[in-house]
Amino acid sequence: TFKSIAKFATAASILTASFNVFAEPVEIKFSHVVAENTPKGQMALKFKELIEQRLPGEYIVNVFPNSQLFGDNNELAALLLNDVQFVAPSLSKFERYTKKLQIFDLPFLFEDMDAVDRFQQSESGQKLLNAMNRKGIVGLGYLHNGMKQFSANDPLNLPKDANGKKFRIMASDVIAAQFDAVGAIPVKKPFSEVFTLLQTRAIDGQENTWSNTYSMKFYEVQSHITESNHGVLDYMVVTSNTFWKGLPADKRAVFKSSLDEAIALGNKIASEKGNEDKQAILDSNRSQLVTLTPEARQQWVNAMKPVWAKFEDQIGRDMIDAAQAANT
Ligand code: LMR
Repeated sequence: TFKSIAKFATAASILTASFNVFAEPVEIKFSHVVAENTPKGQMALKFKELIEQRLPGEYIVNVFPNSQLFGDNNELAALLLNDVQFVAPSLSKFERYTKKLQIFDLPFLFEDMDAVDRFQQSESGQKLLNAMNRKGIVGLGYLHNGMKQFSANDPLNLPKDANGKKFRIMASDVIAAQFDAVGAIPVKKPFSEVFTLLQTRAIDGQENTWSNTYSMKFYEVQSHITESNHGVLDYMVVTSNTFWKGLPADKRAVFKSSLDEAIALGNKIASEKGNEDKQAILDSNRSQLVTLTPEARQQWVNAMKPVWAKFEDQIGRDMIDAAQAANT
């Protein structure tokens, strides 16, 4: 009868709710814009592996690389809508949500990745993880990629070589100012469009890490890469306040420790792969390396460093001092 069917259905749903016997695992989405053979790509896959191993049957983590699900223009908005639960944009892409992270874009601020790491792990660096809390974004940790190099279809030896050339940049006003400072034309474009823009010569050059230049094959459509190490490209792994606070405390702890382990692996890959990818690019003979003399590099420093003063008020002098202190 209808009544007994209804009774059975109610009993079944109570059983499901209380014992979780028929429950499907909760799907967690991790979206990013790079390839899988990168520090971020490998970090995301490690995170998936650890969560599914430690919380079996409870969660599955689906990783979407290569801007497949969301790209630069919408991944943070999607996070706030809970359409994706984890993203790890580069530190240059949070400008709409905080001006504080602009510090990482200041040209020639960090001497090397060790200095970047020391600053990120310092009290000041850790404070920046919370810079977007009021906007509903929770910073869970930093992830390295590496130092940025310039590439173009002509050798860039001196700042004047960049004059009048169009460079693709990430959506960052500091990076725009950095290219303005040498008379170049910065064009903000999402990562997914860079290869085609370079290939069709709609733009002349770009700046990126060895890892991104290799994995996205930019070196096949750029004749020269200048080893400038002029800035850093790192990430913040973020989630939304809504998702994070909605997790039971014990699960949240597993998510955090798994993420920390995945980040440690990503950082190890970043430090090893930087050199490997550089070597692979050089071995390909598609792109020529431009090495700067100390005098030539100093010219780039002199041209670009005035950018700092323009953003000092937004970033805070104390932060810049703390970052510089990490160089020693
Ligand atoms: C870029 O847009 O060039 C990078 O931020 C891509 C990435 O996520 O490494």
